Amino acid sequence: MQDLSDKTAVVTGAASGMGRAFANRFAREGMNVVLSDIEAPKLDDAVAEVAAHGTRVIGQITDVADGAAVDQLADLAFGEFGGVHVLCNNAGVAEAPNPDFISVGAWEWVMGVNFWGVVHGHRAFIPRMIEQGEGHVVNTASMAGHLPGHSPYTASKWAVVGITQGLYNTMATDQTGIGVSCLCPGWVRTEIAEASRNQPESAAPPALYEPTEEQQAARAFVKAAIDGGMEPDAVADLVHDAIVNNRFWIFTDLGMVEMLREKHASIVENRNPQIFGIVDLD
Ligand SMILES: NC(=O)c1ccc[n+]([C@@H]2O[C@H](COP(=O)([O-])OP(=O)(O)OC[C@H]3O[C@@H](n4cnc5c(N)ncnc54)[C@H](O)[C@@H]3O)[C@@H](O)[C@H]2O)c1
Repeated sequence: MQDLSDKTAVVTGAASGMGRAFANRFAREGMNVVLSDIEAPKLDDAVAEVAAHGTRVIGQITDVADGAAVDQLADLAFGEFGGVHVLCNNAGVAEAPNPDFISVGAWEWVMGVNFWGVVHGHRAFIPRMIEQGEGHVVNTASMAGHLPGHSPYTASKWAVVGITQGLYNTMATDQTGIGVSCLCPGWVRTEIAEASRNQPESAAPPALYEPTEEQQAARAFVKAAIDGGMEPDAVADLVHDAIVNNRFWIFTDLGMVEMLREKHASIVENRNPQIFGIVDLD
């Protein structure tokens, strides 16, 4: 899809970080934009910011883990604008370390937002986009979707990489006219390190829990990497370019991509995987 002007984009997780930057980028291209999120005051603020570019912009509170809410979001977008041409399944959360290994509540929360949010987006929007005969879906995965990690976040992002590639195959073999991109950011300067602001009680570590020194060091490392990460606006430029050039992979950190060579070589050569810790990810 080369000309985005007068078309419509829907972005989940649009009140903050990358989603907000995508919404601004699309409006600057002349697109109408539907922003959705669960954080009400920030969503209002983002809608006002994006609307300043002069296109039609609406906001809708939507928990992407709730299938019925995502159906309503799709009805609203198609109803208001007559079509949806770009869908960014972007909302995401990351869990805090938990001494009970990882609680069922944390798995359910993270998989609910990061994995089921994408599934609901596909289910609610894509059939109508196929009827339109054109459109582009951008799913926000992560480099965590390619690299090892024993956590709900890693599981959810590996799943997003897998189903996004599956969607790409299906859209191409069925000749739907729908393009698909898989965004795999490295570190980006957003509020993801404070994702626990939205976590339900069931996902929280026990109140008496004191993180170990290693956990504190890992948390500080991640926070510093995110604070020193790429600007969300720069990621939005890459997303825009991938849509208009119909490119599948969107990577923001080519140094991290290099690390995938050894991973794939070890699979092809049937060798045991390389061992590395989170501090190796720089
Ligand atoms: N920042 C990074 O370094 C990084 C790296 C790789 C991948 N990602 C991914 O990028 C995406 C965007 O995150 P970000 O970094 O901009 O963080 P962010 O916290 O700034 O933005 C995420 C947004 O998602 C919203 N959200 C949380 N739960 C939701 C729910 N249930 N329904 C709807 N919205 C919900 C939040 O309110 C927030 O506005 C996420 O999928 C994240 O996993 C981020």
